[in-house]
Amino acid sequence: MSRQEMPGPQHELAELSAAGLLRTLKPLDSPTGPRVARDGRELWNFASNDYLGLASDPELAEAFIEGVRKYGAGSAASRLVCGTLPPHRLLEEALAAAKGSEAALVFSSGFATAVGSLPALAGKDDVLVLDKLCHASLIDGARLSGATIRVFPHNDVAKLTRLLESIRAKQPDARVIVVTESVFSMDGDLCPLAEIVELKNLHGALLFLDEAHAFGVLGPQGMGLAAQLGLQDRVDFQMGTFSKSAGLSGGYLALSSSWRELLVNRARSFVYSTAPPPALAHAAMAALERIRSADGDLRRTQLRENISVLSAKHPSPIVPVLLGSNEAALAASARLEERGYLVPAIRYPTVPRGTARLRVSISASHPAEAVAALAAEIGHL
Ligand SMILES: Cc1ncc(COP(=O)(O)O)c(C=O)c1O
Repeated sequence: MSRQEMPGPQHELAELSAAGLLRTLKPLDSPTGPRVARDGRELWNFASNDYLGLASDPELAEAFIEGVRKYGAGSAASRLVCGTLPPHRLLEEALAAAKGSEAALVFSSGFATAVGSLPALAGKDDVLVLDKLCHASLIDGARLSGATIRVFPHNDVAKLTRLLESIRAKQPDARVIVVTESVFSMDGDLCPLAEIVELKNLHGALLFLDEAHAFGVLGPQGMGLAAQLGLQDRVDFQMGTFSKSAGLSGGYLALSSSWRELLVNRARSFVYSTAPPPALAHAAMAALERIRSADGDLRRTQLRENISVLSAKHPSPIVPVLLGSNEAALAASARLEERGYLVPAIRYPTVPRGTARLRVSISASHPAEAVAALAAEIGHL
């Protein structure tokens, strides 16, 4: 085929557009925060994952600046070469202490954590057992691993039981890792963690729990769902990210020292990538302290109150409004934007086909009146 004949992207773009699945970047004209500006208008921001309001917190910004002053701009090498600088080590020590684990390892993002660690933890003779609604990063990590992938329906403990029984009947000695999330990113519900822990122990499996949306939000000092249930020492891999409640970016795993050592050797997103900027690690330490402090508790109380304004007894700041079709979700999002609220429409492949929705995310930094006004708008959709 000559170069002139090689098809460009137009066909795929047209297909995406016809299916109501085309996505476009819509930059903000302001910093992030509870109020943002876009196209010359101010909007209430119910789209970010900044659950505690730390992304626009002046003290956290100051910690970032202090990190730059102390350690410079970049880390200049991968962690294994000469990129492990004092704040990386200190952050990992602080995280392990906070999460009650022997050790911790930080990555440049939550996505990099998942796609780097799962292939290092499991290979072709192993089995990864994923909840159907696991995040794309966990799915991609599982695919990259070459392990056998088994999927159980969302939060279905009975099906998970049968799956683990059948895996063990065929592969009594395989490494089996159950992978799930504590707060599901597009549904805002919780996994039945206590039952899953029982099951994985019964079947000699390991548990990889992504606490991305629970870190900072749930549990004593915001340390997540495993901490809330007193199960931290029963979860083999506690994954999380600094990109949601901590208001920054960067991923982590809390785990045993020996698993950490394996990842330092084998997790390709860790080994073959430049270490995160030291200032970011320094700021992450400040964010961790804030999350665990009395101020963190106050923010969590405010957050819970705000959530209850929109949805009584909802367990997390992520509140989905199911609409079904892509067109309905896009139209509802556009309508809310006209009314002054930024609320994203979430479509396939982020959620299963036919379950397009609005994803409202609540922050402690929202005034309760703004949440109430949004609730009224949603009621009028
Ligand atoms: C459940 C879950 N895991 C992992 C990630 C990836 O984290 P990060 O944004 O830090 O790459 C996200 C967020 O996008 C998420 O929602």
